[in-house]
Amino acid sequence: MDENPTVLVTGATGNVGGQVVAQLRERGGVRVRALTRRPESAGLPDDVEVVGGDLFDPESLDAALDGVDAVFLVVPALRPDGREPGLVARIARRARRVVYVSADGVPDDRDALTGGIIAAHATIEHLLEDAGVEWTFLRAGGMATNTLGWAADVRATGEVRGPYAGLSRSLVHEADVAAVGVLALTGPMLVGARPVLTGPEILTHVEQAAAIGDAIGRTVTYREVPRDEMRVRIVDEWGWPADAADAALDAWAAMVGNREGVTATVEELTGRPARSFRVWAADHAPDFR
Ligand SMILES: NC(=O)c1ccc[n+]([C@@H]2O[C@H](COP(=O)([O-])OP(=O)(O)OC[C@H]3O[C@@H](n4cnc5c(N)ncnc54)[C@H](OP(=O)(O)O)[C@@H]3O)[C@@H](O)[C@H]2O)c1
Repeated sequence: MDENPTVLVTGATGNVGGQVVAQLRERGGVRVRALTRRPESAGLPDDVEVVGGDLFDPESLDAALDGVDAVFLVVPALRPDGREPGLVARIARRARRVVYVSADGVPDDRDALTGGIIAAHATIEHLLEDAGVEWTFLRAGGMATNTLGWAADVRATGEVRGPYAGLSRSLVHEADVAAVGVLALTGPMLVGARPVLTGPEILTHVEQAAAIGDAIGRTVTYREVPRDEMRVRIVDEWGWPADAADAALDAWAAMVGNREGVTATVEELTGRPARSFRVWAADHAPDFR
């Protein structure tokens, strides 16, 4: 890697990419370039070079990829759709290193059957492995930012309505995913690694809602919505395809009682304990007030 490498951060206006931009700037020694479909409203600091482009229109990425050393790659997709090879080929032609935000649950066995979002991540992992780049896959567990979807309910009534009250997860703070991403972008130690990143503790939906309540100083409760009703909501309100809704509901059902694991990877790699969900809720209190 160059002494003062250029890093392209995709998803830079989003949760994880936004943290990567912030942490790279804080670290220094790197030229930070940000990709967005809407440069005019990106709202990024002046020392970040903001470049327009759409991941799913690979030709639009030429300006963003010009002269880059490393790419932080976020590809929001609900399932594979055939556009991944063009995207990965375009990136691999220019960048030496790619740090990809993947997901816990992607099997190491290429022939294992997967569906939905996990299949989308597996597809991109395999393409990157074959592309001749230095790769790192950040296999994130459930992200704490998922609960931002509760903000409207919290603000309106203090009662969150959603699936499976007993679903328990070790939600990870986006700043911790980003911190490992920055290590992978700026040093050699994570080349070829697939770190599984989780939060430090397992909380049920009920406990997550209560923690948000503590952060904003009011009672927040969780009311379980039956699966059929939730499915209609995911398809009609969230706009997900029905098969993606079913895959998500199946995955969530499996997380009731069958408690997701906790890894020590964030602490092992960054030297700091993973941020708790309570810390995350305090960091995001304004979103829920
Ligand atoms: N939620 C979870 O529990 C979980 C767990 C594991 C992994 N993940 C993965 O984490 C990623 C989501 O991270 P996040 O929360 O940081 O995302 P996010 O906040 O929703 O942000 C999405 C970002 O992607 C950019 N984007 C979307 N479509 C684009 C396109 N066609 N071309 C260029 N940029 C595009 C957006 O930028 P502009 O709008 O500015 O263009 C935005 O910055 C996903 O890939 C997800 O699968 C999530």
